[in-house]
Amino acid sequence: MQEDLIGKINKARMPRHIAIIMDGNGRWAEEQGQDRLYGHYHGVESVRIIVEGCAELGVEYLTLYAFSTENWDRPQKEVEGLMLLFVDTIRKEVPILNKNNIRLRVIGDLSLLPKDAHKELHEALEMTSQNTGLNLILALSYSSRWELVNAVKHIALDVEKGTLQAANVNQQTLEQYLATSEFPDPELMIRTSGEYRISNFLLYQLAYAELYFTNTRWPDFRKENLVEAILDFQGRNRRFGKTDKQIEEETALL
Ligand code: FPP
Repeated sequence: MQEDLIGKINKARMPRHIAIIMDGNGRWAEEQGQDRLYGHYHGVESVRIIVEGCAELGVEYLTLYAFSTENWDRPQKEVEGLMLLFVDTIRKEVPILNKNNIRLRVIGDLSLLPKDAHKELHEALEMTSQNTGLNLILALSYSSRWELVNAVKHIALDVEKGTLQAANVNQQTLEQYLATSEFPDPELMIRTSGEYRISNFLLYQLAYAELYFTNTRWPDFRKENLVEAILDFQGRNRRFGKTDKQIEEETALL
């Protein structure tokens, strides 16, 4: 890709955490008269390229929305095909993740996964657990509403047990009970394929994220598209509810 485009990136203002809704695999395939699974297979190539790109650019966390809780309702053939694809990809990619010092993480209701996918995933998590570079977080059988209900349930159980006082529950407490408790919030959320929705993805964690939407279908998404999203992010004015003047004063103190 054009090195001058990468050269425009301000390394001091890299997003630490990028989250991506990888949308458009099905439409990409259907536009070519192919089965939807053909699009998912091609989507894996984009995953490889973007994971590698993020590692090279020094992004610390990359969350990919690979399969939502609602995706279980898709036709059985597509669900089974996707599960096989996850198992196969994870098995093949572990040595490459290790070579690139990438640690695999996962968020979601893993109890719903078929046994072999569950096993493969746990082995991959273990085998990459010592890596200290990019954290690649797969959101698998994930939805924000599932995550929030799960967190509230566990908070209630701990209050019932007496290990937590209801009066002490604050934002930090809730964050500790979320699936993302070990990760900072994403600063940039990218959604491909022209839909302007969050689709039950990291609803709490995206509170102050910059949202970037592109018409590019996920199987066509390449490193230059990632760089364009990062450059767009770097051109934004992030105020976190404060005024421009306050932000300028805070930046001058750094
Ligand atoms: C959304 O496109 C995409 C998915 C539901 C699956 C994404 C999975 C991959 C890209 C494979 C990744 C593999 C690993 C191991 C991370 P869609 O089917 O909703 O597209 P559509 O909106 O055009 O129908």
